[in-house]
Amino acid sequence: MELKQIVVCVDFSAITPKVLDWAGEEAKRFGAKVELVHVLEETMPRLAQEMLDLHTLYDKLKEVTVKKLDELKEEIEGKFGIEAETKILNGEPFDAILDYLEETKPDLVVVGAHGKKGVRRILLGSVSEKVARKSPVNVAIVKY
Ligand SMILES: Nc1ncnc2c1ncn2[C@@H]1O[C@H](COP(=O)(O)OP(=O)(O)OP(=O)(O)O)[C@@H](O)[C@H]1O
Ligand SMILES: [Mg+2]
Repeated sequence: MELKQIVVCVDFSAITPKVLDWAGEEAKRFGAKVELVHVLEETMPRLAQEMLDLHTLYDKLKEVTVKKLDELKEEIEGKFGIEAETKILNGEPFDAILDYLEETKPDLVVVGAHGKKGVRRILLGSVSEKVARKSPVNVAIVKY
């Protein structure tokens, strides 16, 4: 199996360290590069954002997110001796992730079984379920 490019979906929830560790191990084993992807959700319509001057708030949020993702990049690079990149996308997480996979066609995408909601009695979170069903590339689902 050729494994050169691995997209890792990061939502900064409790499962994220486990997702990163799994992806890091695989990347090391296969000499692959990882790309840490986070989707920033815009929870309010554009017009409301403008009216409330939420642009400034989103800019700040993006700034903080870029920083947090960069810290994870440094961490995974140091821990596994691999190369990592970061990518921030906007929109609805599942749609943004799927579009990105269609566009970049990595060899593998890694998601957590759950995320921020983390309801364990259901099998998968909605993002991981949709990615698993619709991804054009192989999907690895990391469990707690
Ligand atoms: N905004 C996001 N950006 C990048 N990856 C995400 C994002 N949201 C979720 N993911 C990925 O999907 C995995 C599962 O999260 P998901 O959102 O499906 O579960 P949940 O938050 O527990 O439930 P819900 O379906 O209510 O959102 C996460 O571990 C992460 O890998
Ligand atoms: Mg979620």
